[in-house]
Amino acid sequence: MISAASRPYIDASVPVLREHGVAITTTFYRTMFAAHPELSNLFNMGNQATGAQQQSLASAVFAYAANIGDPSALAPVIERIVHKHVSIGIRAEHYPIVGRHLLGAIASTLGDAATPPLLAAWDEAYHALATLFIEAERAMYAKAGITPGQRRAMRVTEVTQESADVVSIRMSPEDGAPVATSKPGQYLSVQVDFADGHRQIRQYSLSDTTQPDSLRISVKREAAGAGTPAGEVSNWIHDNVRVGSVLQVSPPFGDFAPESESDEPVVLLSAGVGITPMIAALKRIAQVNPQRRVIFAHAARNAAHHAHQLDMAAAHKAMPHLQLITFYEEVSAHDCGVLPGWMDVARLPAWPRSEANVYMCGPLPFMQAQWLALVGAGVPVTRLHREVFGPDMLDHLL
Ligand SMILES: Cc1cc2nc3c(=O)[nH]c(=O)nc-3n(C[C@H](O)[C@H](O)[C@H](O)COP(=O)(O)OP(=O)(O)OC[C@H]3O[C@@H](n4cnc5c(N)ncnc54)[C@H](O)[C@@H]3O)c2cc1C
Ligand code: HEM
Repeated sequence: MISAASRPYIDASVPVLREHGVAITTTFYRTMFAAHPELSNLFNMGNQATGAQQQSLASAVFAYAANIGDPSALAPVIERIVHKHVSIGIRAEHYPIVGRHLLGAIASTLGDAATPPLLAAWDEAYHALATLFIEAERAMYAKAGITPGQRRAMRVTEVTQESADVVSIRMSPEDGAPVATSKPGQYLSVQVDFADGHRQIRQYSLSDTTQPDSLRISVKREAAGAGTPAGEVSNWIHDNVRVGSVLQVSPPFGDFAPESESDEPVVLLSAGVGITPMIAALKRIAQVNPQRRVIFAHAARNAAHHAHQLDMAAAHKAMPHLQLITFYEEVSAHDCGVLPGWMDVARLPAWPRSEANVYMCGPLPFMQAQWLALVGAGVPVTRLHREVFGPDMLDHLL
């Protein structure tokens, strides 16, 4: 909490931040990386280039200002960020650096409007928020039994081409120790040290948590587009990771949790490589509760781009109450039982709207469309859960 004296300054900042949020965070990153180039190893420089991270941090700061009177509204957001930070290896000593450059960016962007009392209020607010993060992150590092940034060497035991552009990588701890406990929906941060000395870290959802001695991730190759470069880490993984390779990874983190141990019906919706956490959930349910009612709907460009078809077929055999629905944008004469076009929730089997959780993962436009359609179809918002494969814009909190 912040002092009564500071509160009005923070309240008054909300419209200002709304207007200048991205400008502030863009200046913030620029000045911070200039002063601390070593920190660029922690950040996803692709997200910096596209502006996604600037927008995400602006949204977080903004959400904090907007909810300063009731910080409990932010608890789920803070939880998500803490998992992400811990998987990357953020340290307590990074917070003053971020605070200094964020305050500096607020001051330079707002100019004369950044009065000393306003800056003092933000200094206090940042310190309060940072303390909250630092404590939560310390507890999460302790629970995971690692020091910040500590990685585990995992040896690749299997590489499987799942579709035209997705490869699955199964790995086991190199030292033979047991794999860390994990849940479907969680991810590993994979750290890649490139030959020129720079480092990048990316998150990959687990696509199989059912084996006692190994974990599996599935990675889509992000090809170059018109005017956009090929994705750095995914292409490195596709081009370099083979059976016997050793990857440096974090333990599993993440609070997205398509619960697999419950008896409730559950709806799992995905598009593209967003299938990875859903297939992990499906495999786990098939293992622990094959009688459960599950609706699993997936949208892919076409059969060649439909990953995890074998996993889906195996679950279908094992689970009498599983309903599998597939949508392809491009349907060929060989595709059997496939619905044409984008996913349309109106074409899914009916389920008791208030009795099932719905989990979704895929590109943002896919999730926005499903979210709106499901709310329109009477699914309570409390039943909807999403995983974003990138910085979450948190707009729902603003
Ligand atoms: C929680 C979570 C779970 C995830 N799970 C999975 C998963 O299971 N499977 C999976 O495949 N992915 C997953 N991802 C996504 C993954 O972490 C990476 O973001 C993805 O692999 C792309 O990384 P990259 O290094 O290949 O691409 P990047 O180099 O990060 O590039 C990403 C995009 O930005 C564009 N870009 C980069 N630089 C520029 C530039 N200078 N100008 C313009 N555009 C630019 C690229 O063209 C590309 O389209 C997950 C992400 C999160 C956050
Ligand atoms: C109170 C201060 C902070 C806030 C409000 C904050 C907020 C955020 C948010 C909203 C995200 C995106 C999470 C997501 O949706 O996935 C994020 C990610 C991240 N944060 Fe922080 N953060 C703070 C402090 C820090 C510090 C001190 C560091 C270390 C230098 C840091 C490094 C990162 C990194 C590396 C990522 C992932 C970025 C990416 O992969 O693109 N953050 N943070």
